[in-house]
Amino acid sequence: MEGLRLPDITTALTIKSHRGSYGVQFIKDLNEAVSHFPSDKNFTFIVDKKVHSLYRNEIETLINNRRFLLVEATEKNKNLAKIPEYIQSLMEQGTKRGHVLVAIGGGIIQDITCFLASTLFRGMDWYFLPTTLLAQADSCIGSKSSINVGDWKNIVGTFVPPNRIFVCTEFLKTLSQEDVHSGVGEMIKVHMIKSWERFLDIKRDYVEILKSDELMKNYILRSLLIKRDIIEVDEFDKGIRNILNYGHSFGHAIESATDFEVPHGVAVTIGMDMANFISSRFGFWPKEKFTLARELLKVNSGRYFSIKIPDERFFTSISKDKKNIDENLALILPRAEGGVAKMLLKNDDHFRSACIDYFRMNAS
Ligand SMILES: NC(=O)c1ccc[n+]([C@@H]2O[C@H](COP(=O)([O-])OP(=O)(O)OC[C@H]3O[C@@H](n4cnc5c(N)ncnc54)[C@H](O)[C@@H]3O)[C@@H](O)[C@H]2O)c1
Ligand SMILES: [Zn+2]
Repeated sequence: MEGLRLPDITTALTIKSHRGSYGVQFIKDLNEAVSHFPSDKNFTFIVDKKVHSLYRNEIETLINNRRFLLVEATEKNKNLAKIPEYIQSLMEQGTKRGHVLVAIGGGIIQDITCFLASTLFRGMDWYFLPTTLLAQADSCIGSKSSINVGDWKNIVGTFVPPNRIFVCTEFLKTLSQEDVHSGVGEMIKVHMIKSWERFLDIKRDYVEILKSDELMKNYILRSLLIKRDIIEVDEFDKGIRNILNYGHSFGHAIESATDFEVPHGVAVTIGMDMANFISSRFGFWPKEKFTLARELLKVNSGRYFSIKIPDERFFTSISKDKKNIDENLALILPRAEGGVAKMLLKNDDHFRSACIDYFRMNAS
C-alpha cells in the first residue's frame, strides 16, 4: 500500500507558485505568532470581528497599536461593493505600497484580504493566520481569491498566494461543531481524491481526529500535502485541479437550493455521497464502496444529511454550473481504477431520476 510521507510538523511546508515559493508553518500558540510580526515591518491587520472578540488579548498583543480593520465574516461583506470601504479605511490609516496585509480569520477574511492584496497598489505582500478548519486544511493554499458581485457568488477573483501562512490549531477550540464538520468535509474530499486507501485512513481515524489536537494537526498536514501536489501542477485551474471540485457541483446545488443553510464543507460532504451514488448507479464504481463511504459521509453531515432539498431548485442550479460543457454536466466522480475523474453526463431524465432516488433514500 502506497503511504503518505509526512514531514515533521515543525518544518514548514513549501508550495511552489507563479509568485515564487511560500510556506505553511504550524505554530504552537498565538504567543508564538508575535515573534513572526516584528515591529520594524509595516503590517496592516484585517481581522474577523468574532475572532477578535474571542481572542482579544492575544490579538491586541499581535496588532500592537498597528493599523487594523475589523470585518464581520458574512457573504455580504465579501461583496465587491464593500471593497471601496475597506480601501478607504486602509488608506486613511496610512497603509502604503510595500506594506504587508495580514488576514486573521476564515475563508471570508482570506478572500477579502487576498483580493485587496492583489489589487491595492497593483499588488502587496500578505500573510495569513487561518482560524477555521476549512481555511487551515484547505483554502489557505492554492492562491485563489473569490469575491461576490450582487447575488453572484465568487465570480470575481485573482490568483495571489499569501507569502506566509501560520496554522495555529488553538483557534479550533472555539469553532462551532458545524464549522469543524465543514472543514473535515474538505479533508475527506482530498483523501478520497488521493486514493481509496487514504479515504479508509481518514474514515478509521475520524472520531479520534475530532478529539486529539495532535491527530488533527497530522490530518491538516496530510490534506495540505495532497492538495499541494495538485495545485503545483495546475495553479490556474486549467486541467487537473478540476478534480478538487469533487463533491462541489452537487454541493453548490445543495447550498443554493437550501438558501445556504448547509455550511459549505457539509454540502460538499453530501455532494460527495451523491457523486458516489451516481457513479455506482451508472456502473463506474462498485456499490460496496458507495456503501462504505456513505457511513462516514453520513456521520460528517450530521443533521443536514436528511435536509429537504427542493428538486427543481437543485436541478436549476446544477444545470447552470459554470463547469458544464454544452448540454452535458461536467461532474467529478469516483472511478473503478481509483481516485476521481471528470466525466460528462447528459442532463437527462436518467440523471434526474437517479438524483430523485438519492433524495428519497436520504429522507427515509
Ligand atoms: N479562496 C479560496 O480558495 C476559498 C476556498 C474555499 C472557501 N472559500 C470561501 O470561504 C468562505 C467560507 O470560509 P470558512 O468556512 O473558513 O469560514 P468563514 O470565514 O465564513 O467563517 C465561518 C464562521 O466562523 C467564525 N469563526 C472564524 N474563526 C473562528 C474561530 N476560531 N472560533 C470561532 N468562530 C470562528 C466566523 O466569524 C464565521 O461566523 C466562503 O465565502 C467560501 O466561498 C474560499
Ligand atoms: Zn470547497
